[in-house]
Amino acid sequence: MENYLMSLSTLVLTSLLVTPLVLQPTAAVVQLSGGQVEGEVAPDETHTQYCGIPYAMVTHRFQEADPNPNWEGVYNARNEHIRCSKRFTPNRNLGDEDCLTANVYIPVEPSDTLRPVMVFFYAGGISDDGCSITYGPKYLVKHGVILVTFNYRAHLLGFLSLGIKEAPGNVGLKDQVQALKWVKRNIRAFGGDPDNVTLFGSSVESITVSYHLISPMSKGLFNRAIMQSGSALAFWALQFQPLEAAGLLAQQMGHTTTDPKEIYNLFNNMTVFDLLGYRIPKKEGDVVISELVFMPCIEKKIEGVEPFLSDSPYNLISQGKYNKVPVIIGFNSAEGLYFWGLENNTRLAKIDFYNAMPRDLTFPSDEEKVKTANRLNELYMAGEKITEEKSSLEKLSRFEGDAAITYPVLATIDLFLQTLSKPVYAYKFNYDGLFNFAKKMYGFSEYPGASHADELFYLFSSDTLPLNAEKKFIDKFTTLWTNFAKYSDPTPASSSISPRWEPATVEAPRLLLIDKKNSMEPIWDDSNEALRFWNTTYALYRRKY
Ligand SMILES: *[C@@H]1O[C@H](CO)[C@@H](O)[C@H](O)[C@H]1NC(C)=O
Ligand SMILES: *[C@@H]1O[C@H](CO)[C@@H](O)[C@H](O)[C@H]1NC(C)=O
Ligand SMILES: *[C@@H]1O[C@H](CO)[C@@H](O)[C@H](O)[C@H]1NC(C)=O
Ligand SMILES: *[C@@H]1O[C@H](CO)[C@@H](O)[C@H](O)[C@H]1NC(C)=O
Repeated sequence: MENYLMSLSTLVLTSLLVTPLVLQPTAAVVQLSGGQVEGEVAPDETHTQYCGIPYAMVTHRFQEADPNPNWEGVYNARNEHIRCSKRFTPNRNLGDEDCLTANVYIPVEPSDTLRPVMVFFYAGGISDDGCSITYGPKYLVKHGVILVTFNYRAHLLGFLSLGIKEAPGNVGLKDQVQALKWVKRNIRAFGGDPDNVTLFGSSVESITVSYHLISPMSKGLFNRAIMQSGSALAFWALQFQPLEAAGLLAQQMGHTTTDPKEIYNLFNNMTVFDLLGYRIPKKEGDVVISELVFMPCIEKKIEGVEPFLSDSPYNLISQGKYNKVPVIIGFNSAEGLYFWGLENNTRLAKIDFYNAMPRDLTFPSDEEKVKTANRLNELYMAGEKITEEKSSLEKLSRFEGDAAITYPVLATIDLFLQTLSKPVYAYKFNYDGLFNFAKKMYGFSEYPGASHADELFYLFSSDTLPLNAEKKFIDKFTTLWTNFAKYSDPTPASSSISPRWEPATVEAPRLLLIDKKNSMEPIWDDSNEALRFWNTTYALYRRKY
């Protein structure tokens, strides 16, 4: 995931360097809870922007941030570039630990009414910072919405959980809660409506959006949610052995311990870039995504610490104990191509279904696990031996995409239909155009469909992309997303987009196939036996909490 986004920002950054920096006219000084900020008119004058505004302050590594940063005088939110600490290579370390800033993009035309707000969750410390150049706002603000993006702590810095107050876990999600509270308190100053807030994100960030649906801490902070290719029900979305994971990382540093205090002292005493230099190697035969071990967890009760999550996402969603808002939720038609790109051919060919079994499945006997692995092998490989041939790797990549993304999203949709009682707009994104960058970067252009992350550059502008290419599709796609943000309905009566996107129901479980020409289709594709097998497998063996 990160490799791809990194190369992409490098690509975009490089081209930015040759563009002369011209100082833009300033935008009005705005009074916020922390102090005054000054923004600027964007170079192409499509919007004004305020970038790098502190919304919370990291004072202790691994702990909840201070929610009230404030400053004297006027904060220059014109050209701030603050990113969260990240080690790209041993010689390329960037960012700060105190990195919690937000960016606000506002359409230039005046408006008589408060504008709807869309809050995009982008990977903290992965994507760029300040006035985003990878995730440009042009396509969205054109529709009259305010776009907010923000940094948060990800991976180890956001998700180390030792079960002690010095490192309780989930602080990355708590950063996001602070950002949402900041939006609620401050967005009116930018002309935004604090009661008209839509969250959206893709991949890991979609997982975090779905966590805000289930956390009592996020209740009342948003009105709608869009989840693109990621759900809290995914096996990699929850770490149920956070202390063990921390112990494995300590082991990489030559310390054998699972004592929380010892681990805390060890991690806390290192410089941040030394700390980020260590990784837990994945098991032989497992999939690349299993390397993401510092993820949200069910928090232990700790005196004086408010938990973000006290039960498993599956329990909370299936019991209907969550924040009920209208949702858009979906996946891309060829998610797996991306995972093939993240693995290399050698690694991918070494995958075996037994060792790559999702970590949220528990089997009463090894025999049953072997049986399940064999069946997966049949379903995905059709009896062929795994080799480094492209046709073989393509099949394996479908296994990765289904296990990590598609099946968990389908399972979430099913549970929403039973428990949400608000509109559920389901989709499958299948558009294959010029900006399917994830697929193209990995050299999979000849494969049909859209890979994981392929929808992003039809939502976000980048200065290096030819502006008029794909205009028609971008207009259609961003109209659906912004209509939902305005009306909780992507195709209201006033819309000219056809067909109408009907919400899915238990009786009519249908999704919108988003493509050159949209159409409504069944959510579960009858011809896809593998997805049904995942459903049966989870019904039998889903890990209980
Ligand atoms: C590590 O930090 C702890 C307090 O967190 C301190 O007591 C200890 O002396 C430090 N150890 C080293 C080697 O710096
Ligand atoms: C693939 O990755 C493995 C382990 O990360 C590495 O040892 C190997 O050299 C890589 N192979 C290729 C062809 O890049
Ligand atoms: C959200 O904003 C839109 C557009 O301004 C408006 O039509 C709608 O009524 C608002 N929704 C709510 C719930 O306030
Ligand atoms: C998936 O499994 C659940 C039971 O866990 C069942 O209710 C549902 O009908 C299944 N869906 C499909 C499409 O088979």
